[in-house]
Amino acid sequence: MRLVLVGPPGAGKGTQAQFIASNLSIPKISTGDIFRANVSGGTELGKLAKTYMDRGDLVPDEVTIAMVRDRLSEEDAQDGFLLDGFPRNVPQAEILRDMLKDWEQKLDLVLELVVDDEEVVRRLAGRRTCSQCGRIWHVEFDDKRDDICDVCGGTLFQRDDDKEETVRHRLEVYQQQTSPLIRFYAEEDILVGVDATGPVEEVTQRAMKAIRPYAG
Ligand code: AP5
Ligand code: MG
Repeated sequence: MRLVLVGPPGAGKGTQAQFIASNLSIPKISTGDIFRANVSGGTELGKLAKTYMDRGDLVPDEVTIAMVRDRLSEEDAQDGFLLDGFPRNVPQAEILRDMLKDWEQKLDLVLELVVDDEEVVRRLAGRRTCSQCGRIWHVEFDDKRDDICDVCGGTLFQRDDDKEETVRHRLEVYQQQTSPLIRFYAEEDILVGVDATGPVEEVTQRAMKAIRPYAG
């Protein structure tokens, strides 16, 4: 199954991606995670991406697309994948469509996680990520009082772009550049919206219910 998750920052794309990808036994490919790994590894790509990410702006398309092309060419992505955070504007979506066509592939489904702006700000202000296994936590909703990952014992960190003003800018960027994708994929007839509020497990159940009919 070839699946895309779309939704504003903090909608729960990364949280749901870890469960959905494991349910479907497909790799989860998050452009944000790949950029952050490059930032912490100090690579040239990381240095470039950081200047955009810290402001909450999109990294230029040519850089992002080349990175995704490389990742999708890998062995584990040949029979399916879940994309989290890509595409993020219409030009990226068009190039993805053409790229998959060249490989005689196509997207099966685009799942939109629907949540309002206030909830987003609340979720991102309390987000913590494990520096070792990447598991996503929330100080309030997961009742995390320490900075230790319950899954692997790694140390949790707060993302640099989760400051409130940067979050607000990321929301503007979403409205201006990413939300047109909703129409783009609705016209391609592969868009399904899911209410992303309520407990994480309930959202996963709703998402899996929406996905099943498309999962061959
Ligand atoms: P990226 O990493 O993709 O960030 P984002 O889209 O802003 O989304 P987030 O990761 O912030 O939110 P999420 O939806 O994954 O929510 P999460 O599951 O963590 O991108 C970062 C940057 O990289 C971009 O700004 C850009 O610069 C660059 N970039 C990436 N892709 C790019 C591209 N294609 N083109 C150009 N540039 C690109 O959940 C958030 C919090 O809420 C967590 O604490 C979680 O525990 C909690 N939570 C989740 N679900 C629930 C729930 N149901 N109830 C309560 N709490 C919940
Ligand atoms: Mg994410």
